[in-house]
Amino acid sequence: ATILVLNGPNLNLLGTREPDLYGHETLADIEERLHHLTQGAGHDLTFTQSNAEHELIDRIHRARDEQIAFIIFNPAAFTHTSVALRDALLGVNIPFIEVHLSNVHARESFRKHSYFSDIAEGVISGLGVQSYELALATALKRLST
Ligand code: DQA
Repeated sequence: ATILVLNGPNLNLLGTREPDLYGHETLADIEERLHHLTQGAGHDLTFTQSNAEHELIDRIHRARDEQIAFIIFNPAAFTHTSVALRDALLGVNIPFIEVHLSNVHARESFRKHSYFSDIAEGVISGLGVQSYELALATALKRLST
C-alpha cells in the first residue's frame, strides 16, 4: 500500500523558518528520514508539499484515484482555517493522522482549534520530526494487520 505524507503552507521553509519552534531539519530531511523508516516494511511513501489550498485539495482527491491507503497530514496554517480541506478528507474517506511539529496548544489561542482533529485517526503535536515518525509507525502498523 501507499502512504501519502501531505504538508501545507510554509513547510517548504523548514530548516530556516522559526527554528526555535520548528527545528533545524528541512522538509527534505524529514522526507529522507521517513523513506528510510519505510524501507523493508513493504509499503511505499509519497510526499507532497504545497502552499496552495486548491493543490492540497486536488492532491487529496487524486489520492483516492491512486488508492492511497493512509495519509499523514500536516495542514500547517490551514489547520485552523480550512473547511474545504476538511471536506476533501471526508469526501475521499481515507484515514489520516494530523501531525504538527510544534505544540499547537502551547501557542496562540487561535492555534488550539483544528478543523481536522475530530475526524483524524489521531493527532500528534509538539514532538518535532518525531511527530511524523510516530505517525508513520502507526500507519505502517495499521497497514500490516
Ligand atoms: C504547524 C502548526 C501550525 O499552527 C502552523 O501554522 C504551521 C505549522 C506545525 O507543524 O507545528 O505552519 O502545523
